[in-house]
Amino acid sequence: MLDIETINKKYLDLIGSAESTEKLDNIRLEAIGKKGEVTLLMRSLGNMEHQERLHVSPLLNNLKKNIEEALLARKENLKEEEIKLSMNNEWLDLSQDSREINKGSIHPVSRVTEEIISIFADLGFSVAEGPQIESDWYNFDALNIPPDHPARQEFDTFYVDGGKQIKEGSVPNVLRTHTSPVQIRFMEENGVPCKIIAPGRVFRSDYDLTHTPMFHQVEGLAIGEKISMANLKWVLVEFCKAFFELEDLDLRFRASHFPFTEPSAEVDIRCSWSDNKLVIGKGDDWLEILGSGMVHPKVLEAAGVDSEKYQGFAFGMGIDRLAMLKYGIPDLRSFFENDLRWLEHYSFSPESSPNLYDKLSG
Ligand code: DAH
Repeated sequence: MLDIETINKKYLDLIGSAESTEKLDNIRLEAIGKKGEVTLLMRSLGNMEHQERLHVSPLLNNLKKNIEEALLARKENLKEEEIKLSMNNEWLDLSQDSREINKGSIHPVSRVTEEIISIFADLGFSVAEGPQIESDWYNFDALNIPPDHPARQEFDTFYVDGGKQIKEGSVPNVLRTHTSPVQIRFMEENGVPCKIIAPGRVFRSDYDLTHTPMFHQVEGLAIGEKISMANLKWVLVEFCKAFFELEDLDLRFRASHFPFTEPSAEVDIRCSWSDNKLVIGKGDDWLEILGSGMVHPKVLEAAGVDSEKYQGFAFGMGIDRLAMLKYGIPDLRSFFENDLRWLEHYSFSPESSPNLYDKLSG
């Protein structure tokens, strides 16, 4: 005769004294798993006499239910105990210094771009952008550089194949050689008056200590009814004072020629060299920093602006060049080599951002 009571007691005792959920699982398999003792007993019901089966069947069901309930209750207990145990054993010393994390840093080009934007924003200029793959219409023609103009040759232009037509006779077929095409695009789209700067990448087929095939420029454009060369001068002097963080500095406006401005001026900043180091602001030398002038009426007309009513100034300068001057970086090519030692030396902490009211260079 089956001693269900004994089996019941055996498993309840085992369950009661199991010390881990793993052990509990083994007991479950032993009792009610596929080949467990109780499972096999239940399977044997089929071989019993009818009367005996009527008697034993509910007892076995009951036995199985008891075991299942005991397993569940013990499991809950064990879980709680395990949590308590791990709370006692595993703890964190939050007073300890954290491990040093390798943070990214801000490249001097990004940093100087931010500095330039924050200074011009303070002077009321907003930021505009244009595509890096341009049509020769925007890059040259609209800027008063027709196909046979000698300036086209001076630019060392990269030409590209194909491209969708963006304007009658105008297909994106050059990598822009300067940021000046953004002038045209901005005026076409937004009209005038306007005060914008357009920082971005430009491309020329050139490579030496001071030239890389990709570099960065920032274009400036201010158009209104009464904007004059005097305004240009004031804006550039204010910009240079803020950028180089110097109260006193001398700029020289030297007559020059650009097809898109008339008159045109190149701007030099006073400087000197001592021990092979450049000092900006004083001395007997001059260093060219940008090109500028009054926007040529043909450029305004090309952008759909009435050149009888509106006039203004434009300028263009090299961002990388400004970074080299301000932060004493000797070789332009090193900017784009991603040498970690160079980056650690010349780049900026992401936690400091340029701020006109504090120190711009952080
Ligand atoms: N686009 C000229 C260049 O890349 C720079 C320049 C000169 C831009 C005079 C201007 C300007 O807007 O007025 O060399």
